[in-house]
Amino acid sequence: MFGTKIKAQFPIFQAHPNLVYLDNAATTQKPKMVIDGITNFYQKENANIHRGIYDLAAQTSAKYEKVRTKVADFIGATSPKSIVYTSGTTASINLVATSFLSPRLVAGDEVLISMMEHHANLIPWQMICKAKGASLRVIPINADGSLDMNAYKQALSPKTKMVAITHISNALGTINPVAKMIALAHQKDIPVLVDGAQSTAHYPIDVNALDADFFTFSGHKVFGPTGIGILYGKQALLETMSPSQYGGDMIRSVSFEETSFAPSPQRFEAGTTNIAGVIGLGYAIDFLNQLDKKAIGVYLKSLGKYAQEQLSAIDGLTIIGTASEKTGIISFTLQDIHPHDIASFVGANNIAIRAGHHCTQPLMKHLKLPATSRASLSIYNTQEDIDLLVAAIKETVDFFVI
Ligand code: ALA
Repeated sequence: MFGTKIKAQFPIFQAHPNLVYLDNAATTQKPKMVIDGITNFYQKENANIHRGIYDLAAQTSAKYEKVRTKVADFIGATSPKSIVYTSGTTASINLVATSFLSPRLVAGDEVLISMMEHHANLIPWQMICKAKGASLRVIPINADGSLDMNAYKQALSPKTKMVAITHISNALGTINPVAKMIALAHQKDIPVLVDGAQSTAHYPIDVNALDADFFTFSGHKVFGPTGIGILYGKQALLETMSPSQYGGDMIRSVSFEETSFAPSPQRFEAGTTNIAGVIGLGYAIDFLNQLDKKAIGVYLKSLGKYAQEQLSAIDGLTIIGTASEKTGIISFTLQDIHPHDIASFVGANNIAIRAGHHCTQPLMKHLKLPATSRASLSIYNTQEDIDLLVAAIKETVDFFVI
């Protein structure tokens, strides 16, 4: 089902037949049905939503709202009213930080994040903590890159006003035990936001079963377009939040004296939103719904294991992040060759990997590394892709090490 067979559905691999694309944590490639769906939208369906009463506008509005239900079903939310369209995971987290947490936070409170957070799940909390005299508390990690669960349990206290945790680390590949973490936080009535940017294309997500208060993901990491993302929030919590942007399509009534707002989720969607992005995301979900999502998780975990085994066999290569619960995101260092040199050397062989701090500078500082190289896998990758990467890395060693 996966690997070469599914690759045929991704036009980029016809445009670049020799491309070995191993940068899926940065963005996934797009299947033909998503590209065609967006093209078709602009060619045949384009109109603004929630405004016009002519047929085209009504049909596009209906399609836009149908995707909301599709997203809700896709992540196990009970109601489309829990689904807010945003521009991506970053915007979703910022919205929760400013509209949910900020008004509730007072001096002395704490927000709990982990050592492995992406900057997008760190800076928004850090900024509101600074503004309110609250503290950002960091859950440490173990030597293998797993979360220190004892430290987590100890850190949960009456001062904790929010836990914000990544489901899967974009830098280490670690899968965090979010269900357990949420249950522990809820014993103390602490709300939890799960950053699902890396997990949503890897595993079936069930926000209801997880009992997540907030869950975020980006369209472009689940085979959809850029510029569209989702904030899932429990309806009761979303209803308490004020909009963070004001404008058209988010109001109930406006006068020069005052404005009342539409209920959520509309109150968080000011202005003309990314309609084509929503439509494209809908097709991406249709694409994923054709596949066995559990089987995707199994495939990526086992291909990741293969990659980790093959890469670790290279002399001088160190895998960064070896937690037992890990998916197909493999960071590594190679002797003292700079990760940028590795990425550009293998890049010359048409192999796309990322090198850098992966927007996790505090994690890199903790690991005493300036950067790592990272191969991140998706459903169209094969063992052959890994073998080509390994061969290119061996050539890199021959080139750089005398
Ligand atoms: N957050 C994305 C990555 O890890 C961009 O590459």
